[in-house]
Amino acid sequence: MNFPREPQSPIADIARQARELLGQVRESRWPGFEPPVRQSVARPAAPARQPAPAGRPTPRVTQTPAVQRIPPLTVPTAAPMPEAPSPWSTLEQVAQAVGACTLCPLHATRTHTVPGEGNPKPRLLFVGEAPGANEDRLGRPFVGAAGQLLDKMIRAMGLARGEVFIANTLKCRPPENRTPLPGEVASCAPYLRAQIRLLAPEIICSLGNPATQALLGVTETISRLRGRFSSYRGIPVMPTYHPSYLLRSSQADRNLTWADLRLVMQRLGLPLPGPSPARESE
Ligand code: URA
Repeated sequence: MNFPREPQSPIADIARQARELLGQVRESRWPGFEPPVRQSVARPAAPARQPAPAGRPTPRVTQTPAVQRIPPLTVPTAAPMPEAPSPWSTLEQVAQAVGACTLCPLHATRTHTVPGEGNPKPRLLFVGEAPGANEDRLGRPFVGAAGQLLDKMIRAMGLARGEVFIANTLKCRPPENRTPLPGEVASCAPYLRAQIRLLAPEIICSLGNPATQALLGVTETISRLRGRFSSYRGIPVMPTYHPSYLLRSSQADRNLTWADLRLVMQRLGLPLPGPSPARESE
């Protein structure tokens, strides 16, 4: 990872929470990533909600917007995550399997699994790193400070959070939010792989190093990979900076991220707003 990791001791944990609060205050004063004026795009009716199994967090199934498929991209391919036949045929089955998973030691320290949530037929899939403390507590992805920034980024694209799907590379929180270990990524890979097959997004936006490296099967860092499309099993992947990194980083990195998101919007045929909504106002 190329951004500072969370500290290890209880005192440092308090410091981390304070920093996160500070980040939220700072973020609330930052008018960056404002949503553009939304132009109306005719979309066909959405399919009915699917029933979710009781008892554990499952992907949120929201109304499906119209999907106007765009022509497939010619993009460079990279080695994907290793393939194995998937035993799951619905997102709910994947979520149930995640909820019962004991494949890696993270199951012992989790409060909730975080399978992901959103539109089951999304045009766009965001893949993050792993649940943090808030996500572990609630069983939902990106609900803390980084999640607020991701929501802003999604709105700036002219989309609503419920229109996209948000998943993570790991479905359980690593202790102290440390970087996922290779074995953990490998254990969790079948779940993300199955989700991508079932979601069939037009574009994947990978957030940060672990998601990008897991999807593309590469070891290069996000600063080298961002800004150009790669491919995961024929699906265009746009790597960009992780919102947690952006919370601690410079305006310049926000501008680069916005440039990446604009490429995604362009590819999806979404109306393009101004050059940079992520302006510094402080
Ligand atoms: N960071 C992530 O990568 N995922 C989350 O769900 C929250 C923070």
